[in-house]
Amino acid sequence: MTQLVERDAEVRALERSLVRLGAGQGGVVVLDGGAGAGKTALLKRVRRLAVDRGYAVLSARAAELEREFAFGVVRQLFEPVLPTAGPERARLFSGAARTAEGLFGAADQTVAPSSSYAVLNGLYWLLVTLAERATPVLLVDDVHWADLPSLRFLGFLARRLDSCAALLVVTTRSADHGEDGLADDLLAADDLTLLRPRNLSGRAVAELVRRELGPDAHEEFCAACHALTGGNPLFVRELLRVLVTDGVRPTADGAAAVAAAGPDAIRWYVTARLRRQPPHVRAVARAVAVLGDDVALAEVAAQAGVPAAEAASAAARLTHEGIFDRADPPAFVHAVVRDIALTLIPVEELGPEHERAARVLLEAGRPVTRVAAHLLRTTPAGVADRVGLLATAAGQAFRHGAPENAAVFLDRARAEPPPPAQRAEVSRQLGNCRAHHLALAEADDHLREALALADGGRQRALCAYSLARFRNACGAPREAVPLLVQALADLAGAEDPGLELEVEAELIGMARADLGGRAELVRRLAAFGRRPGRPQAVLDSQAALEAVLAGRPAGEAIALARSALAGDVLTPERCGLWAAVHTLLVTDQLDEADRRMQRALDTAVDRGLLLPMGIVRGYLARIAYLRGDLAQAAEHLELGTAAAPPPNIGLPILEATAAEVHLEHDRPPDAATVLASGVLGDDRPPHSSAHLWLLGARTRLRLAQGDHVRALADAEICRRSYERWAPGELWDVPWRLLAARAHLAAARPAEATALIGEQVRLARDFGVPRHLAVALRAAAGPAEPPAARRHLEEAVELLRAAPARLELAHALADLGRLQLRGGDRSTARATIRRAAELALECHAQALADRLTAGLATKGGRPPRLRVTGVSALTPSERRVAQLAADALTNRQIAERLYVTEKTVEAHLSRAFRKLDVRSRTQLVSRLTTGPRL
Ligand SMILES: Nc1ncnc2c1ncn2[C@@H]1O[C@H](COP(=O)(O)OP(=O)(O)OP(=O)(O)O)[C@@H](O)[C@H]1O
Ligand SMILES: [Mg+2]
Repeated sequence: MTQLVERDAEVRALERSLVRLGAGQGGVVVLDGGAGAGKTALLKRVRRLAVDRGYAVLSARAAELEREFAFGVVRQLFEPVLPTAGPERARLFSGAARTAEGLFGAADQTVAPSSSYAVLNGLYWLLVTLAERATPVLLVDDVHWADLPSLRFLGFLARRLDSCAALLVVTTRSADHGEDGLADDLLAADDLTLLRPRNLSGRAVAELVRRELGPDAHEEFCAACHALTGGNPLFVRELLRVLVTDGVRPTADGAAAVAAAGPDAIRWYVTARLRRQPPHVRAVARAVAVLGDDVALAEVAAQAGVPAAEAASAAARLTHEGIFDRADPPAFVHAVVRDIALTLIPVEELGPEHERAARVLLEAGRPVTRVAAHLLRTTPAGVADRVGLLATAAGQAFRHGAPENAAVFLDRARAEPPPPAQRAEVSRQLGNCRAHHLALAEADDHLREALALADGGRQRALCAYSLARFRNACGAPREAVPLLVQALADLAGAEDPGLELEVEAELIGMARADLGGRAELVRRLAAFGRRPGRPQAVLDSQAALEAVLAGRPAGEAIALARSALAGDVLTPERCGLWAAVHTLLVTDQLDEADRRMQRALDTAVDRGLLLPMGIVRGYLARIAYLRGDLAQAAEHLELGTAAAPPPNIGLPILEATAAEVHLEHDRPPDAATVLASGVLGDDRPPHSSAHLWLLGARTRLRLAQGDHVRALADAEICRRSYERWAPGELWDVPWRLLAARAHLAAARPAEATALIGEQVRLARDFGVPRHLAVALRAAAGPAEPPAARRHLEEAVELLRAAPARLELAHALADLGRLQLRGGDRSTARATIRRAAELALECHAQALADRLTAGLATKGGRPPRLRVTGVSALTPSERRVAQLAADALTNRQIAERLYVTEKTVEAHLSRAFRKLDVRSRTQLVSRLTTGPRL
């Protein structure tokens, strides 16, 4: 190994990192510098130091040609240490690591579809298990060329080094590649050591010159070498190699010769040396320059068009000449030398060279992504085979959880262009990939292009179907419905009943969301119900919501929704799921709805479905809000908003719920901001059923602001929308009650009483306690005290058995106030106190404060309320505690929640403290016997 000069500080820093690692403290070291600064040399040094200390070294080198090879770097890191079969492999890939196993198959063909996130988590746990044997040191050379999924893994790991002690050392040329090659996570790692090996000083260069050319090298000669190379270690080494080969003497005269070579000396020397080789040797150099390092000699021979034996001797000769580092498999001494060799290929020949490379690698059975990487560098020429290969590579990248990489291949396939028959399909897939990673504008363009290009019934239908699903996922069902109608017309003669049913099921779901789509929906639904082979789950799900809309008793709707969800066949990227879940929400089956949405969340995460994330979180937030768990609602709202950049189907439910949570916290200005900047900002008219939530929230906001005129106007829009869309849907947005509040505020009690009376009657028929209680609470407002008291007492009774804790707090608060007015002091105090405690449990601080302040003015000191027990837990603590109570180990919990074991421990110890328990057994009984939120 080369004796390094002037690198003592760097080596010491690296040693310190290794020592800290020995003490269980992981970290990240970034070696940053220009070409030839000596980064790889330092990395080699770390490797030796790490091996000496008994660490397990995993190493990889990223290469420019393999950038599109998803998880290429990760595979280099792990593959050498993974057994190909047997119990040890099974152990390594148990638990969460299972999701990563597909990456390490014999070939990369058979990988189960999985999102990058699940795979990253799997890789992390694989490393954790490996670390049980020996502390890992991961070395990645030239990380600026690493494929994106691998970079993400390194970033993912960097954020978890406090819980999995590992040292990650990477080299990068940030100046040449900007920061885009380096995951921000890597640079943001808590324990980051940034080393920038500098150019060598004159003294250091002299030392190297004397090492090679003899101790008597003249001072002037050494200075000339320094001046020419600027002290860049690579250039110094290459220059010395040339000087040795050419027999230059290190005298003062020789110095003039060195200086005269000029700043391009290295390039000049390499070029000159290559040019004087015989043609077959030049061909081999050229072949390796194109193929990249570490390709088998046989492939190099095929690429160069020379017999294998000749290729071998050529490689040996190039090694002898100092151009190759080794002959088999052949590799250049340095990337800079390879770059120079590449520049010797005339530009117009580069495309054909890569074309040939793709063929050679394909015939050699190399992974299709590697083959396609060369096709990316060919000149588009309408070659059908290329399109096929690029599309296959894209499919594979997609299954590896790398939709961006897939899009790169498809983009190139599109530019080829594909033969007319395939054009639409390529654009369609490209659009889907773009949508998958939320590049929405591009997705839209490509999907529309696909539809315009499509030719023939089935293809057109498929393209319209993709575009419709995308538009619907962007919150525009109105645009989606006609597309699906067209798709069905196109499918009429296509003999694909499976696809037809699928399109029809989606059409029904989307028509339901379109406020103008009622007639289409009803007509289609009836026909769908008679179709042979129809998916029963979809039918039941739609029938469930229809039952609600038709004002049937809730029990009927609930039974249908349960039957729809029973087989777990409805997934979050298809419409069927939402009608069933919505039914559960409206009928107050919140536990069930929550479980269902948690599962949808898992599916979305596992399969990398980014588009439905917003609506899944939106429903979770709404469920938490209806339950009265404002902290949990806030968490889902935050995560959902981050996951759903506009346009997104999830925005209305997220915005409406956020606004209502703000109002619950007495923050009308914040609610106003959310609504004004949202989907229905600037008073845009509603056109999707999801917009009615927003209207409801806006009406409440206006009531809170005392603007009863505009509140009434909004309630009126609600009424008209519902009457047009689904006159029986009274529960999501109880517009009668909202309008009644506006009438009351405007001193029109008769109108209010009539509307409320109507709602009470309807709610009694429907049979969901919450809705009746809400209506009764409203009825108490304008009623005389004895009647009001009866209404509120009934409401409280109903809510005690319902999951709506915050609603109960409000009803108790109203009742308490009434009792107080009636002079029943001590009962009133007890009622209000209970209301305040409930409010605190719900994290509804504003209501709790109001109530305790009320208690204080009427009777001295405000009581001190203390919340302990289950309701004192934060959502995360509660989740962890619940899983622990379900007998999962800390490690299993960490795997399940995509966090580290350290995080689990921290949550759990806080939960133990709040619940005042000392063991998991106690935890179980505390969680099962304690009051449920
Ligand atoms: N401090 C040093 N003392 C002596 N030789 C060195 C030193 N640093 C690097 N070298 C030699 O210089 C050459 C180039 O170094 P190296 O390959 O490590 O550079 P690099 O920074 O990795 O370049 P690239 O960015 O192109 O990957 C190597 O042959 C290496 O052995
Ligand atoms: Mg290097």
